[in-house]
Amino acid sequence: MKTSDEPLRVTVFASGRGSNLEAILKNINAGKVNARIVAVISNNSKAGALELAGKNNIPAYHISQKQYTDEHLFSDALLKVLQQHNTQLIALAGYMKKIPLPVIRAFKDRILNIHPALLPSFGGHGLYGHFVHEAVLNYGCKISGATVHIVDEDYDTGPPVCQQCVPVLENDTPDTLAARVLAVEHEIFSQAIQLFAQGRVQVKGRRVIIADR
Ligand code: GAR
Repeated sequence: MKTSDEPLRVTVFASGRGSNLEAILKNINAGKVNARIVAVISNNSKAGALELAGKNNIPAYHISQKQYTDEHLFSDALLKVLQQHNTQLIALAGYMKKIPLPVIRAFKDRILNIHPALLPSFGGHGLYGHFVHEAVLNYGCKISGATVHIVDEDYDTGPPVCQQCVPVLENDTPDTLAARVLAVEHEIFSQAIQLFAQGRVQVKGRRVIIADR
Protein backbone atom coordinates (compact mmCIF):
# COMPACT_ATOMS: atom_id res chain seq x y z
CA MET A 1 0.00 0.00 0.00
CA LYS A 2 1.30 3.49 -0.86
CA THR A 3 1.78 5.69 2.19
CA SER A 4 3.77 8.81 1.22
CA ASP A 5 2.26 12.10 -0.02
CA GLU A 6 4.34 12.06 -3.21
CA PRO A 7 2.17 11.92 -6.36
CA LEU A 8 1.54 8.36 -7.52
CA ARG A 9 3.61 7.62 -10.63
CA VAL A 10 1.24 6.33 -13.31
CA THR A 11 2.02 5.06 -16.80
CA VAL A 12 -1.00 5.10 -19.12
CA PHE A 13 -1.46 2.59 -21.96
CA ALA A 14 -3.92 3.75 -24.65
CA SER A 15 -4.72 2.69 -28.21
CA GLY A 16 -7.13 5.40 -29.33
CA ARG A 17 -8.29 8.98 -29.05
CA GLY A 18 -7.38 9.28 -25.35
CA SER A 19 -10.43 10.92 -23.79
CA ASN A 20 -9.89 8.93 -20.58
CA LEU A 21 -6.25 10.07 -20.46
CA GLU A 22 -7.46 13.64 -20.98
CA ALA A 23 -9.97 13.34 -18.13
CA ILE A 24 -7.30 11.96 -15.77
CA LEU A 25 -4.93 14.80 -16.66
CA LYS A 26 -7.72 17.32 -16.06
CA ASN A 27 -8.46 15.84 -12.65
CA ILE A 28 -4.76 15.81 -11.73
CA ASN A 29 -4.46 19.47 -12.74
CA ALA A 30 -7.59 20.28 -10.73
CA GLY A 31 -5.97 18.72 -7.64
CA LYS A 32 -8.53 15.89 -7.46
CA VAL A 33 -5.98 13.13 -8.11
CA ASN A 34 -2.58 13.05 -6.42
CA ALA A 35 -0.80 11.41 -9.34
CA ARG A 36 1.59 12.18 -12.15
CA ILE A 37 1.37 10.62 -15.59
CA VAL A 38 5.02 9.71 -16.10
CA ALA A 39 4.67 8.04 -19.52
CA VAL A 40 2.13 7.10 -22.16
CA ILE A 41 2.53 3.92 -24.21
CA SER A 42 0.51 3.02 -27.29
CA ASN A 43 0.47 0.13 -29.74
CA ASN A 44 -0.87 2.59 -32.32
CA SER A 45 1.48 5.24 -33.69
CA LYS A 46 -1.51 7.40 -34.70
CA ALA A 47 -3.24 7.30 -31.31
CA GLY A 48 -4.66 10.62 -30.15
CA ALA A 49 -3.37 9.62 -26.71
CA LEU A 50 0.25 9.89 -27.91
CA GLU A 51 -0.43 13.35 -29.35
CA LEU A 52 -2.07 14.41 -26.09
CA ALA A 53 0.97 13.15 -24.16
CA GLY A 54 3.24 15.23 -26.42
CA LYS A 55 1.14 18.36 -25.84
CA ASN A 56 1.46 17.83 -22.08
CA ASN A 57 5.21 17.15 -22.20
CA ILE A 58 4.72 13.56 -21.11
CA PRO A 59 7.17 11.02 -22.58
CA ALA A 60 5.23 9.09 -25.26
CA TYR A 61 6.17 5.70 -26.67
CA HIS A 62 4.89 3.72 -29.63
CA ILE A 63 5.57 0.11 -28.65
CA SER A 64 3.79 -2.63 -30.54
CA GLN A 65 4.07 -6.41 -30.51
CA LYS A 66 4.45 -6.14 -34.31
CA GLN A 67 7.86 -4.48 -33.86
CA TYR A 68 9.26 -7.58 -32.14
CA THR A 69 10.00 -11.07 -33.39
CA ASP A 70 9.30 -12.60 -30.02
CA GLU A 71 6.91 -11.87 -27.17
CA HIS A 72 9.73 -11.73 -24.58
CA LEU A 73 11.41 -8.84 -26.39
CA PHE A 74 8.07 -7.01 -26.49
CA SER A 75 7.60 -7.51 -22.72
CA ASP A 76 11.17 -6.39 -22.08
CA ALA A 77 10.60 -3.18 -24.07
CA LEU A 78 7.47 -2.40 -22.04
CA LEU A 79 9.15 -3.24 -18.72
CA LYS A 80 12.14 -1.06 -19.61
CA VAL A 81 9.93 2.02 -20.09
CA LEU A 82 7.88 1.22 -16.98
CA GLN A 83 11.02 0.87 -14.85
CA GLN A 84 12.79 3.86 -16.42
CA HIS A 85 9.92 6.07 -15.19
CA ASN A 86 9.62 4.37 -11.77
CA THR A 87 6.02 3.43 -12.54
CA GLN A 88 3.94 2.57 -9.48
CA LEU A 89 0.58 2.03 -11.22
CA ILE A 90 -0.40 1.22 -14.81
CA ALA A 91 -3.72 2.58 -16.14
CA LEU A 92 -5.16 0.96 -19.26
CA ALA A 93 -7.19 3.79 -20.77
CA GLY A 94 -8.70 2.29 -23.91
CA TYR A 95 -5.83 -0.13 -24.52
CA MET A 96 -7.10 -2.72 -26.99
CA LYS A 97 -4.31 -5.29 -26.67
CA LYS A 98 -3.58 -7.92 -24.05
CA ILE A 99 -0.82 -6.99 -21.62
CA PRO A 100 1.94 -9.64 -21.73
CA LEU A 101 2.14 -11.94 -18.70
CA PRO A 102 5.60 -10.81 -17.49
CA VAL A 103 4.23 -7.25 -17.19
CA ILE A 104 1.07 -8.41 -15.40
CA ARG A 105 3.21 -10.43 -12.97
CA ALA A 106 5.71 -7.60 -12.38
CA PHE A 107 2.80 -5.24 -11.62
CA LYS A 108 0.50 -7.64 -9.77
CA ASP A 109 -2.54 -5.77 -8.40
CA ARG A 110 -1.08 -2.52 -9.76
CA ILE A 111 -2.73 -2.47 -13.22
CA LEU A 112 -6.16 -0.89 -13.66
CA ASN A 113 -8.37 -1.22 -16.72
CA ILE A 114 -11.47 0.76 -17.63
CA HIS A 115 -14.22 -1.25 -19.32
CA PRO A 116 -17.36 0.35 -20.82
CA ALA A 117 -19.89 -2.04 -19.21
CA LEU A 118 -20.83 -3.52 -15.85
CA LEU A 119 -18.50 -6.52 -15.57
CA PRO A 120 -18.80 -9.49 -15.53
CA SER A 121 -21.45 -8.78 -18.19
CA PHE A 122 -20.31 -7.82 -21.68
CA GLY A 123 -16.60 -8.37 -21.16
CA GLY A 124 -13.99 -10.73 -22.52
CA HIS A 125 -12.17 -11.26 -25.78
CA GLY A 126 -13.74 -9.31 -28.67
CA LEU A 127 -15.93 -7.19 -26.40
CA TYR A 128 -14.37 -3.76 -26.47
CA GLY A 129 -15.38 -0.23 -27.51
CA HIS A 130 -18.38 -0.09 -29.82
CA PHE A 131 -18.97 -3.88 -29.72
CA VAL A 132 -19.79 -3.67 -26.02
CA HIS A 133 -22.58 -1.10 -26.50
CA GLU A 134 -24.01 -3.01 -29.48
CA ALA A 135 -24.13 -6.17 -27.36
CA VAL A 136 -25.82 -4.36 -24.45
CA LEU A 137 -28.52 -2.96 -26.78
CA ASN A 138 -28.99 -6.28 -28.60
CA TYR A 139 -29.56 -8.00 -25.25
CA GLY A 140 -32.22 -5.42 -24.34
CA CYS A 141 -30.55 -4.34 -21.08
CA LYS A 142 -32.16 -1.51 -19.12
CA ILE A 143 -28.91 -0.45 -17.49
CA SER A 144 -25.26 -0.38 -18.47
CA GLY A 145 -22.29 1.42 -16.97
CA ALA A 146 -18.55 1.35 -16.52
CA THR A 147 -16.12 -0.71 -14.46
CA VAL A 148 -12.59 0.00 -13.30
CA HIS A 149 -10.97 -3.30 -12.34
CA ILE A 150 -7.64 -4.77 -11.39
CA VAL A 151 -6.04 -6.59 -14.32
CA ASP A 152 -5.36 -10.28 -13.84
CA GLU A 153 -4.13 -12.82 -16.35
CA ASP A 154 -7.32 -13.00 -18.46
CA TYR A 155 -9.54 -10.54 -20.35
CA ASP A 156 -11.73 -8.35 -18.10
CA THR A 157 -11.82 -10.91 -15.26
CA GLY A 158 -9.98 -9.11 -12.43
CA PRO A 159 -11.85 -7.78 -9.39
CA PRO A 160 -13.72 -4.45 -9.70
CA VAL A 161 -12.46 -1.34 -7.88
CA CYS A 162 -15.24 1.10 -8.94
CA GLN A 163 -18.45 0.58 -10.91
CA GLN A 164 -21.18 3.01 -11.85
CA CYS A 165 -24.40 2.48 -13.82
CA VAL A 166 -26.20 4.53 -16.45
CA PRO A 167 -29.72 3.98 -17.81
CA VAL A 168 -30.24 2.55 -21.28
CA LEU A 169 -32.86 4.69 -23.03
CA GLU A 170 -35.51 3.49 -25.49
CA ASN A 171 -34.04 5.35 -28.44
CA ASP A 172 -30.36 4.66 -27.68
CA THR A 173 -27.92 3.81 -30.45
CA PRO A 174 -24.46 2.35 -29.67
CA ASP A 175 -23.09 5.90 -30.04
CA THR A 176 -25.53 7.60 -27.66
CA LEU A 177 -25.09 4.85 -25.08
CA ALA A 178 -21.28 5.02 -25.49
CA ALA A 179 -21.35 8.78 -24.81
CA ARG A 180 -23.39 8.33 -21.61
CA VAL A 181 -21.07 5.56 -20.40
CA LEU A 182 -17.95 7.57 -21.34
CA ALA A 183 -19.02 10.47 -19.10
CA VAL A 184 -19.11 8.01 -16.17
CA GLU A 185 -15.75 6.47 -17.19
CA HIS A 186 -14.19 9.91 -16.98
CA GLU A 187 -15.29 10.17 -13.35
CA ILE A 188 -14.62 6.69 -11.98
CA PHE A 189 -11.19 6.13 -13.53
CA SER A 190 -9.82 9.19 -11.72
CA GLN A 191 -11.61 8.13 -8.52
CA ALA A 192 -9.96 4.69 -8.67
CA ILE A 193 -6.50 6.18 -9.29
CA GLN A 194 -6.99 8.55 -6.37
CA LEU A 195 -7.86 5.60 -4.10
CA PHE A 196 -4.50 4.05 -5.04
CA ALA A 197 -2.75 7.40 -4.60
CA GLN A 198 -4.19 7.59 -1.09
CA GLY A 199 -2.99 4.07 -0.32
CA ARG A 200 -6.55 2.96 0.47
CA VAL A 201 -6.75 -0.12 -1.77
CA GLN A 202 -6.19 -3.64 -0.56
CA VAL A 203 -6.83 -6.67 -2.76
CA LYS A 204 -8.03 -9.75 -0.89
CA GLY A 205 -8.77 -12.49 -3.39
CA ARG A 206 -11.69 -11.22 -5.46
CA ARG A 207 -12.54 -8.43 -3.02
CA VAL A 208 -11.03 -4.99 -3.39
CA ILE A 209 -11.24 -3.44 0.05
CA ILE A 210 -11.28 0.37 0.20
CA ALA A 211 -10.02 1.66 3.54
CA ASP A 212 -11.79 4.62 5.19
CA ARG A 213 -9.90 7.89 5.08
C1 GAR B 1 -13.38 3.68 -23.62
O1 GAR B 1 -14.78 3.65 -23.74
C2 GAR B 1 -12.91 2.46 -22.85
O2 GAR B 1 -13.79 2.06 -21.85
C3 GAR B 1 -12.85 1.43 -23.93
O3 GAR B 1 -12.30 2.13 -25.03
C4 GAR B 1 -12.71 3.50 -24.98
C5 GAR B 1 -11.46 4.36 -25.12
O4 GAR B 1 -11.81 5.71 -25.24
N1 GAR B 1 -12.03 0.33 -23.55
C6 GAR B 1 -12.33 -0.94 -23.83
O5 GAR B 1 -13.28 -1.26 -24.50
C7 GAR B 1 -11.32 -1.96 -23.29
N2 GAR B 1 -11.93 -3.25 -23.20
P1 GAR B 1 -10.73 6.85 -25.06
O6 GAR B 1 -9.57 6.52 -26.00
O7 GAR B 1 -11.44 8.08 -25.49
O8 GAR B 1 -10.29 6.89 -23.63
